[in-house]
Amino acid sequence: MLKKKTVVYSLFMVIMVVALSMFFSSVLPSTVPVGGIATAAEHITLTWAADPQTTQTITWQTEVTNGLGRVQYAPAVEAKSFPHNARSLSAGVEELATNWGNVSIHSVTLTGLKPGTTYIYRVGEEKGWSDLRTFTTASTHVSKFKFLVFGDSQSNNYNVWRSTLHRAYQTNPEAVFFTNIGDLVDRGQDYAQWKAWFDAAQGVMDIIPVMPVTGNHESYTPEGRFSMPIFFSAQLKLPLNGPEGLKGQVYSFDYGDVHFSMLDSQEGEERRFVPAMLDKQEAWLENDLRATNKKWKIVCFHRPPYNNKEKETNQNIRKAFVPVFDKYHVDVVFTGHDHVYARTYPLYGDEVVDSPGKGTIYVATGRSGTKSYRDSLAKDRNIFFYNPLDEPNYVTVEVSGNSLTVKAFKQSGILIDNWMIDKAAGGK
Ligand SMILES: [Fe+2]
Repeated sequence: MLKKKTVVYSLFMVIMVVALSMFFSSVLPSTVPVGGIATAAEHITLTWAADPQTTQTITWQTEVTNGLGRVQYAPAVEAKSFPHNARSLSAGVEELATNWGNVSIHSVTLTGLKPGTTYIYRVGEEKGWSDLRTFTTASTHVSKFKFLVFGDSQSNNYNVWRSTLHRAYQTNPEAVFFTNIGDLVDRGQDYAQWKAWFDAAQGVMDIIPVMPVTGNHESYTPEGRFSMPIFFSAQLKLPLNGPEGLKGQVYSFDYGDVHFSMLDSQEGEERRFVPAMLDKQEAWLENDLRATNKKWKIVCFHRPPYNNKEKETNQNIRKAFVPVFDKYHVDVVFTGHDHVYARTYPLYGDEVVDSPGKGTIYVATGRSGTKSYRDSLAKDRNIFFYNPLDEPNYVTVEVSGNSLTVKAFKQSGILIDNWMIDKAAGGK
C-alpha cells in the first residue's frame, strides 16, 4: 500500500515539474537568464561617435562572452542580395561590471559610408544574428531636418517613457535623431533601470541615433551615493572630443547647418571626481563655438541656468556658461531637470532683449517619464510656461534654411507650444 502511494506521488511530482517547466518556458523570453542579462544581442543602439554623413556607431550588449561580435551591413537598395553582399566588421568588446552582474558591451563605428544613404544591418555572430534593421546617413547638403527632444525620462515605470518615445517617433518618422536632456533613469548606477530604459527604446534607438546628455540622476548609486556616470558612458558611445575627464559626456557634433554642443551641468555630483569641471567646460565651449561656422548653434545640458524650480538657482552654471552663449550667439539652449515645459524671451546678459537675433532662447523641455513637480513656477523671463502634470510631453525641432521651428506636444499628441526663429527676419 505504502509502495503504491509512493509511486503515485512520484508520478504526480514528475507531471508537475514537466507542466511548470512548460509554463515558464512559454512565458519567459528565451534570451533572459537569471539576473536579467541577455545571451543574445540586446539594447541595440545607434549613436554618432563621429561624422553623421559617413559613419554610424552601433552598440549592443550580451551576457559576458569572449566573442567579439560583428556588424553586417549593406545599402538598403541591395537588400535582395543580403547577406551575400554584406560588409562585415568586428566590434570591440568591453566588460561592464554592474550591480546585476557583468555584461559585455560590443561597439563598432562603421566608416566610409555614403552620405544620404539608407543601410540595412544586423549584429551578432554566426550562431545567432539579430533581425535586420536600418540606419540612414546624413546628406552632404541637408536642406531640412527634424530631431526630437525628450526631457527627463526617469520613471518608476519605463513603459511611460516607451509610450512617449514611440508616439513621438510614429508621429514624426522623418526625425533623424533624438536627444534626452539628462536624468534618463532615476538611479544611473543601477543596471536594472538602464535595462528597462533601453528595452523601452528598442524600435526607435536602433533606427535613429540617440545623442543624449547626462543629468544628476545618472550620477546616483542605488545606495544614494555620488558617482561618475559610468553606466551612461559605457553604454552610450558619443564623440570623444570633450575636455579631459569629461570625454563621452561633453561633446559636440554637426548635423546639416547646426552645431550642437552638449554639456554636463552636474557640478554638485561630479566635482569631487573632476575638479573645476565647469571651468574646464567653459574653456572647451569657448573653443568649440569659436571654431564652428554653422548657421545655427544649439546647446543642450540638464540643469537650467534660468530655473523654474523655486529652490534652485544654478548660479554657478549661469556664471560659467551664459557669457559664452552670449559671446557666440547661441540660438537655443535646451535643458531639463525642472520637469516643466517653459521658454524664455531671448536673453542677453541676463536681460530680456527684443529679438532672437540679439539673444538666446532657453527652453526647459518637460518630462518624458513618470515624474512631475508641483514646485516649478513661471518666471518673468518666461514667455511661455506649461507644467505637464497631466501627461508626459516631447519636443520636435525642425531646421530649414533660415528657420528653426520648435513644437511641444503632450504624449497624446495635443499641441502645447509652437514657435520659430526666422534668421531672414532678424533672428541672425
Ligand atoms: Fe535632474
